[in-house]
Amino acid sequence: MAALPVLLSVQRCLIMWRKWMARILITSGPTRQYLDPVRYLSNASSGKMGAALAKAAIERKHEVVIVSGPVGIDYPAGAKIINVVSTNDMLTAAVEEFKTCDGVIAAAAPCDYRAVTVETHKIKKTGAAITVEFEQADDVLATLGNTKIKEQWSVGFALETQNGQSRAFAKLKQKRCDLIILNNASAIEADVSSIQMIDAAGSVIMDVSGSKSDLGVRIIDKIGAKLLQ
Ligand code: CTP
Repeated sequence: MAALPVLLSVQRCLIMWRKWMARILITSGPTRQYLDPVRYLSNASSGKMGAALAKAAIERKHEVVIVSGPVGIDYPAGAKIINVVSTNDMLTAAVEEFKTCDGVIAAAAPCDYRAVTVETHKIKKTGAAITVEFEQADDVLATLGNTKIKEQWSVGFALETQNGQSRAFAKLKQKRCDLIILNNASAIEADVSSIQMIDAAGSVIMDVSGSKSDLGVRIIDKIGAKLLQ
């Protein structure tokens, strides 16, 4: 008869354990959209913030999957790493991995535009100006936000050069995030950054500057407190 309460408390412990030790998807780095076999459109992004988040999450005993565009840095050894090139590749890999994840932190800077026509051969110089038509690429975070189930969470970044807080909050709603981290262009490829974390009510719940590795720890701990309780 005493077995039932024991079983229930074991089950409760397992649920708590699952919450504390999440499987976290991190998108990281830039993506590339090729115009021809040699040239591409991309974003300036080093992957350093994604790497710092992954390291901090692993130190907190979370399981980490990184879907990364081309970067010149090393990710922590304990993470599963999936390398991608285009935004569509990132979307495909992220959607697949997210099925088995508790949440996503979208630190990537996926390219927002792709050439309507990708030339098979190198575009030759003629001395004349050329025009390339671009169409909007997929939005990885918005797709995950729109398809997540109620047990899953999503955290975005917003890189803004003006009206930061209001634009970041608009992005949080548009991409259905639980939290969004506002940063600015000085963070690009740098070792330091200044961030503000904004919650779903529009409140700034963190406002800090420092090395990306310190910020990674602060962000993971805040996510732990806000989304993994
Ligand atoms: N993001 C994404 N897929 C894209 C573009 C952005 O998943 N195609 C994610 C980023 O990883 C980030 C968030 O969306 O977490 C916001 O990215 P940001 O570059 O700030 O904004 P954009 O959505 O690209 O919008 P805009 O360029 O108009 O500011």
